[in-house]
Amino acid sequence: MDTDQLRRYLEFYQDLHVKTLYRQPRIAGIQTAPPPVTESKPMDLIPLAPEGETLLQIIQDIGDCKRCRLHEGRNKIVFGVGNEHSPLVFVGEGPGADEDAQGIPFVGKAGQLLTQMIENTAKKEGIALLRNQVYICNVVKCRPPGNRTPEPDEMETCGHYLYRQISAIRPKAICALGGTAARALTGHKEGVTKMRGKWFKWQDIAVMVTYHPSYLLRPYNQNAKREAWEDLKKVLHFVYD
Ligand code: URA
Repeated sequence: MDTDQLRRYLEFYQDLHVKTLYRQPRIAGIQTAPPPVTESKPMDLIPLAPEGETLLQIIQDIGDCKRCRLHEGRNKIVFGVGNEHSPLVFVGEGPGADEDAQGIPFVGKAGQLLTQMIENTAKKEGIALLRNQVYICNVVKCRPPGNRTPEPDEMETCGHYLYRQISAIRPKAICALGGTAARALTGHKEGVTKMRGKWFKWQDIAVMVTYHPSYLLRPYNQNAKREAWEDLKKVLHFVYD
């Protein structure tokens, strides 16, 4: 390990308020070691992606989708944005008003916070990474009326496309933002507070659950903000170290 790496590891533990480090072989290597995984039971959706499918083919298959009631109020289908070959994918819940107007995920206030979280955390950790180098999408591709939580049948209908998107990208890790994404990818129904910071798996891809940026925008959630930053650091080091 070089001095820079050592400094980053120490800062990481300092940020977690860990005061004492014991000299054990794995202690500084947790970010790159295979993550311990909690068992997942995601939605049992078939058929999954045909082998070798591209994002463009999935978009074409979605077409002018009317497969669930969410199409009724939408302006634009919000499929996803970013690097089709990214080793890291962020999955949110569903488009809000700004995303519905522009057809791009995470462009409103929550999106601006997500961009800052990705770029600032990466920079602080010595990882050169911009938002446009990762891939960002949602569980449902059309805006739920009044930004309500998607219903289970809407998640199932659109979940096919999410699963196919992930299968086409084949990232090293997925960061599930909030409860809807966590449920869609892990099948677990506990609240995010219980699941955050832990590794799960979707098929053979590592999944880290953290808070949704909208939740972090609420002024009384300072502690959650710090925890989300810790979760993000884990993901970034796991993917990019
Ligand atoms: N919230 C989400 O879950 N997704 C978006 O794209 C925007 C806000």
